[in-house]
Amino acid sequence: MHDIVEDELFSSSIIKDSEKLDFDYIPDELPHREDKLRILARIFKPILSNVPQNAVITGSVGTGKTVLAKRFCLSLVKTARKQGIILDYIHINCRRRSTDSMVLLGILNHFDQGFPDRGFSVQEMLQVLDRQLTRRKSHLIVVLDEVDALLHRSGSDLIYNLTRFSDEYSKKKNLISLILISQKNIFPMLDVSSLSTIKRSNHIHLDKYSRDELYDIIKQRVELAFHRGVVNEDSINLIADIASEWGDARFAIELLWKAGLAADQQHSLEVTPEHVRAAKAETYSIVTESKLRNLNKHQLLTLEAVAKRLYLDGTAYTNTGDAERMYMLICEEHDEKPRAHTMFWNYLKEIENAGFITLKKSGKGQLGTTQLISLPDIPAEILCEKIEEILPDIN
Ligand SMILES: Nc1ncnc2c1ncn2[C@@H]1O[C@H](COP(=O)(O)OP(=O)(O)OP(=O)(O)O)[C@@H](O)[C@H]1O
Ligand SMILES: [Mg+2]
Repeated sequence: MHDIVEDELFSSSIIKDSEKLDFDYIPDELPHREDKLRILARIFKPILSNVPQNAVITGSVGTGKTVLAKRFCLSLVKTARKQGIILDYIHINCRRRSTDSMVLLGILNHFDQGFPDRGFSVQEMLQVLDRQLTRRKSHLIVVLDEVDALLHRSGSDLIYNLTRFSDEYSKKKNLISLILISQKNIFPMLDVSSLSTIKRSNHIHLDKYSRDELYDIIKQRVELAFHRGVVNEDSINLIADIASEWGDARFAIELLWKAGLAADQQHSLEVTPEHVRAAKAETYSIVTESKLRNLNKHQLLTLEAVAKRLYLDGTAYTNTGDAERMYMLICEEHDEKPRAHTMFWNYLKEIENAGFITLKKSGKGQLGTTQLISLPDIPAEILCEKIEEILPDIN
């Protein structure tokens, strides 16, 4: 019998190396982050003369904070080794480890896989860490990624202790350098003493990627991950156009990857714009959620009113009057006072600007000033569900 599973597993793919599309993959070169790598290298140069340093990296989602820190630290470790300096580099995700002891445990596990996960106080763990560094004669560089989660839950004690490690903690003057990463500005979350240990001039902010920058990042992935010539220029341009709305490289790479899968599924020898559009439709639900979270409560209620009206009527368009009546009902359901007509009108304009709806003047035979509202990109029912999911989190 024909083995479907075997067939699929061995069917040829236009993707040469899917690992290169993985979010954990660290490219040798980071297009449009070269200047930031250079700045990091300048900041951390004193490490080579045994002076620890700290830096803070901020920037919104998918701007390359994590990959920048990883690329930098791996290169730093390699270069230091050539100089006979042993550097230990540990990358901790504080969303997963959000207390001082969980972070320290993550650090100690790097040296000793079997280090017990309970029974040691923070102070004891710091002492064990000091002994490990003495034993290895190494300088430690710790990246605390998504550090706002740690600061939020546990405050800045650990950051203070790590930044003051060689001066106040370590008997043998062992050195620890830190890189703190966050989407948000973390300076207001640091207490006075940790603030004094982190130089504001060592703050690197990553801007959202422009359309052309995204183009270059995708081009690099195409060359790394796909067979030569299978992703056409139009498709790369379209991905860059779509992703530029968010400036998010992760979204761009995800689109590329899904477009590749869509092409494979059709046994196409080329990734075409149609595959990109299919990938967009699939990815849309994830992106929609993050875009929805940027709206305020009444913008969300307005959008839900439009979606619900369209869904219930099964039409392509609704008008402002019908949408506003629905808005009042939905406000009532949520114990919210409906805003005045002019405000409602503003909300409509705002959610149009955010790309959710389109407004156009109604044609002949209908009331003069009324506007027709449509929802081009996403099924109305799904949108209603998503908004209901999100509303409780929005104040
Ligand atoms: N300049 C770049 N060149 C090549 N790939 C990049 C670049 N910037 C980001 N990427 C890739 O985009 C994806 C997202 O980057 P990264 O994970 O570093 O974002 P982030 O800023 O840490 O986002 P988040 O705030 O969500 O953690 C990764 O796959 C990364 O390799
Ligand atoms: Mg990250």
